[in-house]
Amino acid sequence: MSVTSSDSATYSGALEGSNAKRGLWSSRLAFILAATGSAVGLGNIWKFPYITGENGGGAFVLMYLICIAVVGIPIMMAEVMIGRRGGRSPVSSLRLITERDGLRPVWKLMGAVGILAGFLILSFYSVIGGWAVSYVGTAASGQLTGQSADAIGAIFSGLLSDPMTLLLWHSVFMALVMVVVARGVSSGLERAVTILMPALFVLLLIVVGYAMTSGGFGRAAAFLFQPDFSKLTTSGVLVALGHAFFTLSLGMAVMIAYGSYLPKDISIAKTSITVSIIDTGVALLAGMAIFPIVFANGLEPGAGPGLIFQTLPLAFGQMPMGSFFGTLFFVLLIFAAWTSGISLLEPIVEWLEEQKGMNRTVSTIGAGLVCWALGIASILSLNLWSDFAPLSFVPTLEGKTIFDLLDFFTANILLPLGGLLVAIFAGWVMSRQAVKKELALSPGAFRLWHGTLRFVTPVAVAAVFVYNLM
Ligand code: PHE
Repeated sequence: MSVTSSDSATYSGALEGSNAKRGLWSSRLAFILAATGSAVGLGNIWKFPYITGENGGGAFVLMYLICIAVVGIPIMMAEVMIGRRGGRSPVSSLRLITERDGLRPVWKLMGAVGILAGFLILSFYSVIGGWAVSYVGTAASGQLTGQSADAIGAIFSGLLSDPMTLLLWHSVFMALVMVVVARGVSSGLERAVTILMPALFVLLLIVVGYAMTSGGFGRAAAFLFQPDFSKLTTSGVLVALGHAFFTLSLGMAVMIAYGSYLPKDISIAKTSITVSIIDTGVALLAGMAIFPIVFANGLEPGAGPGLIFQTLPLAFGQMPMGSFFGTLFFVLLIFAAWTSGISLLEPIVEWLEEQKGMNRTVSTIGAGLVCWALGIASILSLNLWSDFAPLSFVPTLEGKTIFDLLDFFTANILLPLGGLLVAIFAGWVMSRQAVKKELALSPGAFRLWHGTLRFVTPVAVAAVFVYNLM
């Protein structure tokens, strides 16, 4: 369908008008902080080390870095670009762009994928956030000081075996997220990110410094950075790809939402790359903090989701001022998880407000309670239902609890699917001219990005899917 010039004038007028009403990020820095707040979270510090341990180390890390470069960064640029072009919430932005260009409403599907992923991820994310809340008390009370690896392991298993305590901390974490979302994400939060994120970074450096003296550093560096491809399985490749989406908050329109607030004169490429580098840096640092402790104490790298809660407390128990550093670390981890949790709930609430006409408080309470209730299934799969693996008849899903399945389905299927739709939308469906103008790259850089997004990204995602289904 062709569009007359007056149509497109109205259209761009609507875009700019809506942008002005919603207010832009005060600066490029503010956008970077908010996007980093969403990206850096439990994915970097809790998930990256444990999936690296489960998937054999170096080759998996390399695969993950490749996925960040050829899939993650191009898709992040595409999401931010779509958001800024649409200038509204993700669902409205997509609708506006598709209606304006006469495109098929199948793209509404992308919004649906985002909403579903948000619900499912936040439900278990909040349970893990709850573990971090619980460890603030454990560290502050000095319980970790001088403990053996076995005793630290027992503290962790004690937590997992107690559904009521898990429910309490899960509720606290979810309440923290809901309070901020209900009041509307504020600039106070933005300012807090400026201080607390660098603080988390410094604290990780301190633990890495301690880990260097622990005697396991050499083995840890070899484990993380010497690829042994015999250890990489096809499902490991899928997990690396899925994690690239999860850790950068891609595939569920979070960056579309944030991009809608980005001022027009700011480079989408530079900001996306900056956020990706910070995010990857934090993950690698977490790996370098944790694995020396694993090897120095003869622990199991493939210990699973409890890995950081069984290793870092050991380091805090041994290092000088360990109770102080340990408490601070878990507080900062909660903060990192909190800003990510907010970005998981915010799109759902915005969608309820816009599409269903509900007010913010009601939408937040409704959506938050649904996530909270879903989280109970994850809590129970850590204890009472730990033997319940409902989809074990599927070979790749054998032995996976509800919690494992939620993590697998969202990170490895839903987010890459959302990302695939974004890549096709930005690479094949949107007008090349519009995209080019929005990104304002040099001709060579644009061709590189566009080519990657049109061919490499979709083929990579589709290939990994097909391989794993077979
Ligand atoms: N990126 C966040 C993390 O690494 C998790 C997240 C995923 C947040 C998807 C928003 C959307 O912890």
